[in-house]
Amino acid sequence: MSSRTSDVLVVGGGIIGLVTAWRAAQRGLTTAVVDPEPGGGAAQVAAGMLAAVTELHYGEHTLLGLNLASAHRYPDFAAELTELTGLDLGYRRCGTLAVALDADDRAHLRELHALQRQSGLESEWLSGRECRRLEPMLAPGVRGGLRVDGDHQIDPRRLTRALLAACEQAGVGFHRAWAKGLRVAGDRAAGVTTTDGDELGAGQVVLAAGSLSGRLEGVPADVLPPVRPVKGQVLRLTVPPHRAPFLSRTVRAVVRGSQVYLVPRENGELVIGATSEELGWDTTVTAGGVYELLRDAHELVPGITELPLTETRAGLRPGSPDNAPLLGPTELTGLVLATGHYRNGVLLTPITGDAMAHVLTTGELPDVARPFTPRRFAATELLEQPA
Ligand code: GLY
Repeated sequence: MSSRTSDVLVVGGGIIGLVTAWRAAQRGLTTAVVDPEPGGGAAQVAAGMLAAVTELHYGEHTLLGLNLASAHRYPDFAAELTELTGLDLGYRRCGTLAVALDADDRAHLRELHALQRQSGLESEWLSGRECRRLEPMLAPGVRGGLRVDGDHQIDPRRLTRALLAACEQAGVGFHRAWAKGLRVAGDRAAGVTTTDGDELGAGQVVLAAGSLSGRLEGVPADVLPPVRPVKGQVLRLTVPPHRAPFLSRTVRAVVRGSQVYLVPRENGELVIGATSEELGWDTTVTAGGVYELLRDAHELVPGITELPLTETRAGLRPGSPDNAPLLGPTELTGLVLATGHYRNGVLLTPITGDAMAHVLTTGELPDVARPFTPRRFAATELLEQPA
């Protein structure tokens, strides 16, 4: 890209940065992305579950509203991207089955079921036999499960490719470098400097750098997003054509307190995830991580041991203090956040794109995204100051 200034400069070319750039460009804003490798990031590792209902947690009702609103947008979002780019996103309305292997797992799942019902969500309790009738590869020891027909999947790598293509079509520019520091002019954000020594100017800067979002130099401390990396190790297996269909929907469980899920794609890929480790910036794939995932997945679906193991990888989720994203304007004029999506980056991609386009054109968050203002953390800190 030749121009060094734009209306909007997005720091970070993962799925959140790309969807923001695409939607901003669609609204007529000149837009650029700064990232050494656009299309990289956590989405290259993620399984792509759209699991608003099966990943419901106590105390996350506000986030549930955003998750459901984004899941609702997915069919039109995927269709729009496919129509524009000609690329299939692997969006699969397959549903999810969450199963229990022992009495503790079953008690946990019963609690989840009660919470889902209190929240007005659709899920159906099944006996072990009913679970196996749906998914014959399940272990004989499965003692019950929850059928959630509304939790689907998408292939995050295909989604990324389509977002890159959509950005290019919409005229988004790409600066292939690391953003080193924020440029502040007077009392507003004015662009970034890159590790190549370039100075990029912008009317508005969007910080969408995933787990790295808290590390941009020059961002005032009270505005710096409180995100941290949460490591997830993920495996990819391949189901040979003669073994298909191996699983027809996402199968998941909590085994001895750890989440494990198996996400079957139409192209034969079977994704098994994920560890959740607070280990800073470490992205080592460990023997222990792979062992635990295979051990737990094998307890659910013993037949996986015969499948080729084709990839092992670790990524970093951008965790936030309340597990919800930080969206919208900050106290520094011109600096906008789209980060901290933690476990829900793929699910929240459509609504983040729409919310950010709204913010960048009006200065305000739309109602659905208002609870996710970054200012909620600044307010807490003020309350916690000693008198
Ligand atoms: N949402 C799946 C994960 O974060 O592992």
